[in-house]
Formats: sequence, structure tokens, C-alpha cells
Amino acid sequence: MKYSNKILNLAESATIAISTLAQNLKAQGKDILSFSTGEPDFDTPEKIKQAAIKALGEGFTKYTAVAGILDLRRTIVEKLFKENSLKYDPSEILVSNGAKQSLFNIFQALINEGDEVIIPAPYWVTYPELVTYSGGKNIFINTDETTQFKITPQMLKNALSAKTKILVLTTPSNPTGMVYNKEEIKALYEVIKDTNIWVVSDEMYEKLVFDEEFCSVASINEDMLQRTITVNGLSKSVAMTGWRIGYLASKNKELVKLMNNLQSQCTSNINSITQKASIMALNGSVDDEIEKMRLAFKERRDLACNLIDSIPSLSVMKPQGAFYLFINLKSLEVYRNNSMAFAKDLLEDQGVAIVPGIAFGMEGYVRLSFACSVEQIEKGIERIKNFIAKIK
Ligand SMILES: Cc1ncc(COP(=O)(O)O)c(C=O)c1O
Repeated sequence: MKYSNKILNLAESATIAISTLAQNLKAQGKDILSFSTGEPDFDTPEKIKQAAIKALGEGFTKYTAVAGILDLRRTIVEKLFKENSLKYDPSEILVSNGAKQSLFNIFQALINEGDEVIIPAPYWVTYPELVTYSGGKNIFINTDETTQFKITPQMLKNALSAKTKILVLTTPSNPTGMVYNKEEIKALYEVIKDTNIWVVSDEMYEKLVFDEEFCSVASINEDMLQRTITVNGLSKSVAMTGWRIGYLASKNKELVKLMNNLQSQCTSNINSITQKASIMALNGSVDDEIEKMRLAFKERRDLACNLIDSIPSLSVMKPQGAFYLFINLKSLEVYRNNSMAFAKDLLEDQGVAIVPGIAFGMEGYVRLSFACSVEQIEKGIERIKNFIAKIK
């Protein structure tokens, strides 16, 4: 009896692999500080929980439309218009079990065998796996600090081919926290304007931008709006990782219908209670709390950056958004080409869990999530300092 090649080629999420290792050490009684998961440490705001309790009390427990209830899709449409200057109709929205499923739907619906998908590296771990699973070919564009981990128009031009089907953009980025400004998006558009490639814009961390205004990729002009599929969700912005809600928006109603068909055969609608709660999360009722979380993340970012900067041999480019530091360890000769060894040794020696850069397609770096308390950040980075002092 044999398994499919497709499933055998699919890797477990690397971020999950490290946190599992950390959990095992914790279970053995070791004192572990985890900086590996991409999850806010805040609780979901109370008003959202109350909306869920109300929905449950009212018996809102049946199947709903596959794409999500109309009220929710209308609320998403209003949000995208008000906050992102994007004009959609509810029929252009598909609500899924997290942005992960939105991305799965997109790649499955667009990719034919051998189609190329351009992914700037370092990238969020899931994209290449989903592209490969869909039969596509990943074309990575490597970036580093010299372009602030962003792709330039020239880099994009070099990566384009007759087989290019999709360009993936993540702004703010996981793992680097870099944010594309309006001018940069416009410049990238100039490179693709005469092609017929799709753009997938993952804007999951949109609410967590610290230094400048956020610009939605699709908002720069009508053509970009038509070719872009905007992906977003509530996991990071409203601390709702466990509720499982993400959504996509596309002006191409036919594409949305096709993805709806796929979802109807896989998972149908997302949890009905989550849908009611998500309306409360998106309609402005918890904006004050979202802002409080953003300010807390900003404070933690500043603290974590200063502490890392004080460690000889490590450096970090200050992230403009999200809640990760992508730390450069290229001055450490033993680890510069083996970020996995760094992560394992640090975990075993100091009980600090971080994610190796190789998981994001880039050696010479590790990712530290600062979605945790100030005390943990101080304690954890002190341990990293001790570890570096030992190996020097
Ligand atoms: C860039 C990015 N996109 C999408 C997701 C998926 O989030 P979810 O499936 O919880 O909505 C994540 C989660 O880590 C992410 O970092």
C-alpha cells in the first residue's frame, strides 16, 4: 500500500516542528522560554467573546452559506472600503478556516502543473508547500538588508518568465516585518502591468504597523485591484488564532465561485459561532483594543531590538510591522550556514526556542517572535546573550 507523492512531498510546518521540540523539553521539566510561535499572547477581546456566547444562546448552530453569512461578508466589504480603500461586493468575498485555507483555495484554483509562482524570500513557510502541493513551481527572489528585505522592480523583472502565474507579496512580512509603501508597490506594478499574472497579497499583519501608514497592494490602481487577490484574517490583528477565520477578496467573481466550489467539497462554511463573533471584531467595536495591542507590540519591538543590538555578533533590522525580529547571525562562523544548529543548541543550552531562518528559506538568520511579555523578552534575550558569550 502506497501513499500519494503529493502528500509525501508535503513538509510539516517548520515553526510547528520547533515548538513541538520545545514542548517536549518543557514536559521533561526544563525551563523553556518560547519565542517560536506566531501568536499574540493577548486574549480575544471580551465583546467578541460575548457575541459568540449570544450566538450560541440563540441557537446559531447550523450550516451557513459556504462563503460565510451575508452579514459577515458585508462587514468585511465595509472594512475593506473604509480602511483599505478597496471596493468589493459581498459576492467577491470568501470566508475560510484561517488565511491558510484562503491561500490553499487560491493556489488550488489558479495553478496548473508547472506554473511558476514568484515568492520573495525569506518567506512565510506555508507558501512554497502549498504551491508545490498544487503542482506549481516556486521561484524565489532572495532579499537581504541591502533592500530592507524587499524585492525591487529589477529583481522582479529578472524572476518573470512566460510561465509566471502568480506573484506573492506579504506586507507586513513574516518573518522580517518589512512593509511595502505605496511608491514601492507602484514601482513593482510597472514591471507586471503588461503581463497577465495574478498578485496574491497577504495582509495578515496589516493592523500591526508601527512607523508608517499601511498601503493595501490592490489599492494603488484599478488594474492592480482586478489582478490582486487580497488575503486577510483576524488571527493576528484581534488575537483570534484559535477561532479560525480568514478571508479573501477578489474582483473576479468566477474565481471566487470556483474556490467556493472547492471549499464546499472540503470544509463548507467556517464555524457558525466564529462568524457572528467576527462581525463584532470587524465592525469597529473593538478598535480601541486593537490599538492597545498594537502599541504594546510596538513597545516590545523597541525593547527587543535594543536588547539584540547590545549583543556583539548579532544584528537586526528594525521591523516596521508584525511581531518578529529576523536576527542576522552571519558573524557567527559556526552557525552562519546552519541556523537549525543554532536554534537547537540555543534550545538545549539555554531553553530558548526560536525558529531557524532556513525554515523561511534563508540561512544566516533566526526568527524571534516578540508576541510575549516584556519580562519574557528581557529574560530570553539575556539567555541569548549568555549563549553567544559561551560560543565566542
Ligand atoms: C503571513 C501569514 N499569512 C497567513 C497566516 C495564516 O493565519 P491564519 O490561518 O491563522 O489566519 C499566517 C500565520 O502565521 C501568516 O504569518
